Amino acid sequence: KEPNIVVVGSLNMDIVIEADRAPLEGETIMGNHSSFIPGGKGANQAVALAKLGAQTTLLGTIGDDPFGTSLLRSLKDSGVETGKVKEVDNNPTGIASILLAEGDNRIVVVPGANDDCLPDDIKEHEELIEKADLVLLQLEIPLATVTTAAKIAKKHGKTVILNPAPARSLPEKLLQNVDYITPNQSELGILSKMDQDRFDLQKAMEIVQESGVDHVITTLGSEGAVYKSQESAVKTTPAHQVPVVDTTGAGDAFNAGLSYAIGLGKELSEAVSFASKVSALAVTKFGAQAGMPDRKEVEAFDAPPFNHNGT
Ligand code: RIB
Ligand code: NA
Repeated sequence: KEPNIVVVGSLNMDIVIEADRAPLEGETIMGNHSSFIPGGKGANQAVALAKLGAQTTLLGTIGDDPFGTSLLRSLKDSGVETGKVKEVDNNPTGIASILLAEGDNRIVVVPGANDDCLPDDIKEHEELIEKADLVLLQLEIPLATVTTAAKIAKKHGKTVILNPAPARSLPEKLLQNVDYITPNQSELGILSKMDQDRFDLQKAMEIVQESGVDHVITTLGSEGAVYKSQESAVKTTPAHQVPVVDTTGAGDAFNAGLSYAIGLGKELSEAVSFASKVSALAVTKFGAQAGMPDRKEVEAFDAPPFNHNGT
């Protein structure tokens, strides 16, 4: 049976500009290409989950504008249940300004309507969480909402996965209700409050576990992912060697893959290796949502381990 997953998170219109290089301070340069494509960590993860086959519902907020309409269409086309996405008229749909240059991305997010995704909106849809197997969260909506969603999910005995992006430190009252957390290395640094110069990966993961999270999965881009469950030692899954087109959404693909596999009842090692494949496939295509692979593509994928930058 396919897992039933509720994603609580952001929807953004990604305004993507491609240029040969990033402009310097005060400089204007000519770019090569522009596009307006659906994004937002919550929506990206929901799209990826639905493409993998999960029964997926997104709770989030859009503005009363054409960007919002087009984001909903993209979600629906991928099979995400969008009936409970809220529309507000006092705040525009979220925007991410993404500059792709020299094989890297630089992103500025203006949350807009995502800031109106409130704890009461989650309380109102408690029955959706009650019916789900798993709740997947990120940090592009208000922290109080994320905390409420995790609390409601735990109250009903559901599995909670938190992708702590964008980076910020988090209160214990959220972490104690999280089962799996998926920082990248800089997010882990902030979560563990460990000094940059004395940074120790394993120690940092242990510090996060001490605040009540059973499983910590740290993504390391081209070096793969390391994971640690409560008592056990740190284990590593290498990344896959793929031709990189666009790393935007690589982290979202990873989180969707992980959640899907955990939702199916897989062991963590198997789930991390599945997530690595989903993420590797996603970076071979342009666009956060357009690049998300379906289940068949993941199963058919067998590339030698190596290199992509997970963001
Ligand atoms: O994780 C990638 C996403 O981050 C982009 O789609 C952009 O919207 C930003 O929120
Ligand atoms: Na992509």
